[in-house]
Amino acid sequence: MEYEDQGIGNLQANANGEFIVPSLRNVALTAPYMHDGRFQTLEEVVEHYSSQIKPHPQLHEFLKYPNGEVQQGNFTEYEKRALVAFLNTLTDQLLITDERFSDPFSE
Ligand code: HEM
Repeated sequence: MEYEDQGIGNLQANANGEFIVPSLRNVALTAPYMHDGRFQTLEEVVEHYSSQIKPHPQLHEFLKYPNGEVQQGNFTEYEKRALVAFLNTLTDQLLITDERFSDPFSE
């Protein structure tokens, strides 16, 4: 498939439109989200997994039914809030409060 950004397809064969699964450590501090920054909030990311997943040849098996159809999360409002709350627990408070981590150029 032809897209402007082929992700790791630019680096290896048969991977056009595939993107690395990122670490979610401190994800609450690193908006905007996804490789192109398309989502401003974690709520938008969770809504994406709930109802907006699009079919794609590189879509991960976890996001498809065995017959290949896209599997939307279809989360309830409660589940969406729980997922966002979970993502917020991945924030390392020390990283944002400890003086030692305030300046990457200091020794
Ligand atoms: C409810 C389940 C999931 C949640 C809450 C979730 C959460 C997230 C979040 C917050 C990001 C953005 C990270 C960032 O931009 O720094 C992300 C990106 C990503 N996730 Fe998930 N994820 C879920 C399921 C999955 C599954 C099943 C896969 C398949 C292996 C997956 C693969 C990816 C990939 C490849 C990206 C990067 C996409 C890009 O750069 O455009 N995720 N996810």
